[in-house]
Parts: sequence; structure tokens; C-alpha cells
Amino acid sequence: MDVECIGGVTAMDDFLIKFFPEVYKRKLHAREDNYCKYDNQILQLFTSSLYLAALFASFVASKVCTKFGRKPTILVASSFFLAGAGISSGALNIWMLIIGRILLGIGVGFGNEAVPLFLSEIAPVQHRGAVNILFQLFVTIGIFLANLVNYGTAKLHPHGWRVSLALAGVPAIFLFIGSIVITETPTSLIERGNEVAGHKALKKIRGVEDVNAEYEQIKLASDIARQVKHPFKELMKRSSMPPLIIGVLLQVFQQFTGINAIMFYAPVLFQTVGFKNDASLLSSVITGTVNVLSTLVSIYAVDKVGRRKLLLQACVQMFISQSTIGGMLLVHLKATSNTLTTTQAGFVVFLVCLFVMAFAWSWGPLGWLIPSETFPLETRTAGFAFAVSSNMFFTFLIAQAFLSMMCHMRAYIFFFFAGWILVMGLFALFLLPETKGVPIDVMVERVWKKHPVWKRFMDD
Ligand code: BGC
Repeated sequence: MDVECIGGVTAMDDFLIKFFPEVYKRKLHAREDNYCKYDNQILQLFTSSLYLAALFASFVASKVCTKFGRKPTILVASSFFLAGAGISSGALNIWMLIIGRILLGIGVGFGNEAVPLFLSEIAPVQHRGAVNILFQLFVTIGIFLANLVNYGTAKLHPHGWRVSLALAGVPAIFLFIGSIVITETPTSLIERGNEVAGHKALKKIRGVEDVNAEYEQIKLASDIARQVKHPFKELMKRSSMPPLIIGVLLQVFQQFTGINAIMFYAPVLFQTVGFKNDASLLSSVITGTVNVLSTLVSIYAVDKVGRRKLLLQACVQMFISQSTIGGMLLVHLKATSNTLTTTQAGFVVFLVCLFVMAFAWSWGPLGWLIPSETFPLETRTAGFAFAVSSNMFFTFLIAQAFLSMMCHMRAYIFFFFAGWILVMGLFALFLLPETKGVPIDVMVERVWKKHPVWKRFMDD
């Protein structure tokens, strides 16, 4: 929610007049058409400073995660969120705003590093996917609420933006309380030498007395991990490449589905259906609801049908929707005139929902799940930091480039994303191993050493 709030806030005139008066003046005189929306790189760079801060913070978070555990890392994340929300909502000048953004970014870096790892380690193997996807569920609920909040506060002059930025601190309060009450993962306890506490924690979270088999797996993984003094160096070895390549590519592909571009552009599409003034509310309610509900589908399906089938099915669905949207707009939506009939525009909205739906039960959640469950313990936090930072980098890149790209490529931008979806489908088909039902600490033996392509990397 902290991340998503700002999009709506930077669209509020009160906010622009106070902090970016030049941008506001230019916005008033900007010439817009259906494809070329007002685009200000400086404003976008300000928004994206969060992703850049998160990108670097995730590496620091990886160290904190290994040395002190997942639980304190989550506590640090929530503290940064709270500080960031406080400073940005009370900002008196641009510097306070920028510091607020950076603090929030550090929070995102720490949170995105520690929460998925925490969930994957704490979950019983047969429900690991479902438990991990709770992370994405909170992300989607956050997006939904942030859009609703912004819709309401945009009407509160002149301090509505402050309310939005302050409310972004509410989820952080829950995270803060959560980080105090949760149990540290047995893996992290055992890895840091607290074997008795680790054994006890394992019994507690599994709810049974006999946890010896799992304990032995974790113990073995920890003994190996403790011999590795430099995880980032270890990560550069040939045998670490398979999970690293997969983890990074999943993030690149996740962003190149075009999800953030589609969600951003959705209000414009909704306007063409005829909901003039309330298009942005309507589009966020509809796409937001589809996003949350489809994430629930993923929670239900991921440990039953497996990761690969979800990703592949979604590629087909997303490819069809992106290329059909592209085709419809190419034929019917000109730069300055909208020739879509209500039925056609309604169909485009349906396609947007079809796209968001597919993303939300596949590449959205699994982009976080798979990298959190495929690294061996010795490179887990370091490897996952690469996944988090790649996500941040590509989210930043798309955010920075999307509006200019759309202005130049027009409807073809949807074919651009469709092309990427084809590539990621082939990747999932040939290179992605299935990790459903495999205990996290035996991935190397049971997954990487058995895969027809990746086993060649595993000889050392
Ligand atoms: C992605 C975000 C995206 C969100 C949409 C997440 O998994 O990382 O970039 O906005 O899903 O629900």
C-alpha cells in the first residue's frame, strides 16, 4: 500500500502545487491524446526513488536476515515504513518528501526480502505455496485499498494527499505488531546455532511432537550453510547459477507481462466505456477486486496443480488478452478520436480483467514464491536479494519508460508485452522445474540435480 499510494497522490493538484509547481504549470498546458498522456520524467523519478532505495536495501536486508534472523528484519522493515509514512505525510518541503520516499523504499527492501522467506520457511511443505502467497494477497489488498483511499482523499482540499500518505502507515502498524508476535523460523534459529530453540520452534509451528525428520534436514542444510563465509561469492559459483538465473528471470518476466502498465492505463480504457468521471474509481474497484480474488484462486491451486501449470496457463490467457487488446485499439482507438462502441470498449475492459486475473494467479505470486523456495540455505538470503532487487529495477524501468513508450508505440505496446509473454511461456516450459511438494532444504538434490538442463551446472 505504501508503494501504490503515491501514484494517486502525484495526480493530486494540491500536492503538485506545493511540491512541484513547475510540473503543475506544464500539466495545465499539456496536450494529451488517447496514447500520449502527460508525462513528467522528474515526477516519475521522484516516485521511483522508492524502488531504487529498495533495490540497495534488499542487499543489506539479506545480511541482517542471515545474521539476526527473519523476525528482526521484518521489525526493521515495519519501522522504516512507519518512519517513511510519518515523514512524508508531514512533509513541509521537498526534502522531507524525498527522505520519506527513501525510508519507505528501505522498508520495501527489507520487507520484500524477509517476509516471503519467512513464510516459505515456516510453512509445512504441502502448503508452502499457499502460505507464501499470503504475501502477494496483502500486496493486492494494499493496492485495492490505496486506490480507494486516494479516490476519497483527492476530494479533500488541500491536505488530502497527507491523509493518503499517513494511511499508508496503517498496514505498517499491523506488520510491526506481527513482527513482534511471530515465531522466528526454525531454519534461521538452527543456522545461527540456536539448535534447541529451533527444535522447539519446529514442534510449536508443526503442532506435533515428532519433528525429527524435518529437524535433521534443516540441521544438515545449516551445517553446510555455516561453512560458507561469503554467501555472495558462493552465489557466483556455477552450481548456484540455476536458482539465481530462475529467480532473476522470474522477476524480469513478471514486470514484462506489462501488469503495472495495464493497471496504470486501465482508467483510460474505462473512460472509453462511458464512465467519464468515475472511470478511475470504477477501474480500480473492478481490476482491484479481480486482482484480490484471483490471488485467492492461486492460494487454493498452487500446491495442488503446481507452479508450472499455473504459469503456463496464464501465459496463454495473458497472450490472448494483450494481443486482442492491441488489435482492438489498433483498429478502433485513434490518437484523438475514440471510435470504440460501448460494446467494443466493454470487451476491452473484459480483456483487461482476463489479463489481471491470469497474472494474479501466476506470475504475480509465483514471482515471489519460487525464488524464496529454490535456493539452498547457504545462498538463500543473498540469492533472494538478487530477485528482490531485480524486481525493483524492472518495476522502476517500466514505470519510467511506459508513458513515453506508449506515446511512440501506441497500440503496438500491447504486442510488445505479448511478445514477452511468449518468451516467458517458453522459459517456463523448458527451463523451470516444478517445486511443488519438495521440502525447501532438499531442493538441490531433488530438483536441480535431476533437471535435464540445470543438472549440468551441479557437478561441483
Ligand atoms: C508485482 C507488482 C504488481 C503487483 C500487482 C506484484 O507481484 O511485483 O509489481 O504491481 O503484483 O498485484
